Amino acid sequence: GRALPWRNDPTPYEVFVSEVMLQQTQVERVVNKFPEFIARFPGFAGLAGAAAGEVIAAWQGMGYNRRALNLHRAARIVVERHGGLLPRTIAELEALPGIGKATARSIAAFAFNEPAVFVETNIRSVFIHFFFNGAEKVPDADLLPLVELTLDRKNPSRWYNALMDYGVMLKKTRANPSRKSASYRPQAPFRNSRRQARGRVIAHLVERKRTSVKKIAALLEVEQAYARDLLDELAREGFIVKKGNGFVLA
Ligand code: ADE
Repeated sequence: GRALPWRNDPTPYEVFVSEVMLQQTQVERVVNKFPEFIARFPGFAGLAGAAAGEVIAAWQGMGYNRRALNLHRAARIVVERHGGLLPRTIAELEALPGIGKATARSIAAFAFNEPAVFVETNIRSVFIHFFFNGAEKVPDADLLPLVELTLDRKNPSRWYNALMDYGVMLKKTRANPSRKSASYRPQAPFRNSRRQARGRVIAHLVERKRTSVKKIAALLEVEQAYARDLLDELAREGFIVKKGNGFVLA
């Protein structure tokens, strides 16, 4: 049983934030960022009341900034439509921005101890190791019925925490069984990617508060047309807004 900051009797909000962080960021990094984020935004009301740019600033170091924007939007929906309380049904959770099938179910399991059925990378490792040894490209559809059959319905939250710890142990002691999952995708190369360029623009804005096409072209060493295209894209998506001749965080 790993001691993790989102495991000691978490509020639904803390579960919500941690599961979104853990979607695409390694546990070691989330362990450091989660307490800081919770101290800055202790609940749905505070998060909903912040400007998007403040949430993006607090998110720096986590990668995939879109999750910060979605988290902020989800908090506003929780406050405006659910009276500030995280909804309990899978359907309502899945309707929140940034919450897919698996995250909706992991939140239901960890926040409400619901026997929701899902897999993530560590759980995949456990079920592939035990039931599909030697198989290639195991689809989640083959794992989910086994997850359902073996689920501890008295305490799903504790069970899933144990499964994840077990999966982590397996990965440390042998070749990662999740490589045999049909869902296994090595992360796309980051260097010189558009994702990296977008991340640098956001980080630059967090630091400098304001930027322009010219400054971004210089920062990234790209043509102004490319810089403008990046900035327009980030503006369309709601990360930044035009202000005068420049751009600021939303
Ligand atoms: N990955 C997704 N959810 C997790 C959790 N609650 N603990 C550890 N790793 C996770």
